[in-house]
Amino acid sequence: MSNQKIHIFDTSLRDGEQVPGCKLNTKEKIELAIKLEELGVDVIEAGFPISSPGDFSSVEEISKVIKNATVCGLTRAVKKDIEVAADALKLAKKPRIHTGIGSSDNHIKYKFNTTRENILERAVEAVKYARNFVDDVEFYAEDAGRADIEFLAKLTEAVIGAGATVVNIPDTTGFCLPHQYQAKMEYLINHVSNIDKAILSCHCHNDLGLAVANSIAGAIGGARQIESTINGIGERAGNCSLEEVVMIIKKHPELGFYTDVKSELLNPMSRLISDTMRMPIQANKAVVGSNAFAHSSGIHQDGFLKNSSTYEIINPEEVGAGNTQHIVLTARSGRAALAFRMRGLGHEFTRDEMDELYKQFLEVADSKKEVNDDDLNELAKTFATAN
Ligand code: KIV
Ligand code: ZN
Repeated sequence: MSNQKIHIFDTSLRDGEQVPGCKLNTKEKIELAIKLEELGVDVIEAGFPISSPGDFSSVEEISKVIKNATVCGLTRAVKKDIEVAADALKLAKKPRIHTGIGSSDNHIKYKFNTTRENILERAVEAVKYARNFVDDVEFYAEDAGRADIEFLAKLTEAVIGAGATVVNIPDTTGFCLPHQYQAKMEYLINHVSNIDKAILSCHCHNDLGLAVANSIAGAIGGARQIESTINGIGERAGNCSLEEVVMIIKKHPELGFYTDVKSELLNPMSRLISDTMRMPIQANKAVVGSNAFAHSSGIHQDGFLKNSSTYEIINPEEVGAGNTQHIVLTARSGRAALAFRMRGLGHEFTRDEMDELYKQFLEVADSKKEVNDDDLNELAKTFATAN
């Protein structure tokens, strides 16, 4: 199978920043954008320029410092939005305007109180207008996850005809199942006559916990760009998690995809976003959580200590997690794990001694959530004094 590039579009600074309480200032946004470029993302969505003077200046300043990645600004399908975005992006080496409008009957009725025909006209007009300013225009069909598929195909064909280089098919409400989202992409690839002139993009929200699965399914269905955020941050239940998508693609070469993201920078990037946005990472978060490489039950610890591949499919160094790989000692841990941790602290015991020590360890472990290095040193000291 030939290797196809999946473009990674990062929207941590736009959709990700829509998390309540996580507003970033321009200086923070510039620092993060520089790190995102180092990480190797293809597109940085820097903000929504018309939304506030702060967002305008973030997009403008990021445009000045980013050298290789495309810098993107969001707009509604409104001329004034597009003009303001074009102005904010004017110094970008590779500017992209991301414009769009609702595409589901729900949005057409309740948000726009209009008709499908009118939406089509406004979409085409917006894309044509944006092309007066930049060569790279991405169109988003908001709430495409719930849109009528024939209308979505008509809209996609029309905006590509108007000059869109990328068509984003957002599952705005995180409603789709993976096979449904994949089928949407396949339908568009097979029914849009000018599809060879643009690429399709996945933009999945996580309301049902399916954002990553849907994005991968979308790529299998033919999309060539995935929109995501670091740590999956974003509105409500968040967006598709960049680090998870990148590692799925890396760990499954049979998919025939690759990205240009440097996986060893994923953990530092994740911590930087978490610290800057003051948003903790859940401990069991895939790839970047503090427990992602921690083993606590006796059976797992025993297998892991014999060969790490028994219970780990990712080497922590591959994702920049250093030696966070660790054996957590709890009342579920076995002798092998206790001996391993004791050895790490410089305490060696014979097999018979370990049998005795293990009993004492269990007493401590039963009274605590986790037995730490201080507890182990204390145990070793008491054991030495008594024996
Ligand atoms: O979720 C969504 O539909 C969006 C668009 C504005 C791209 O974020
Ligand atoms: Zn979104």
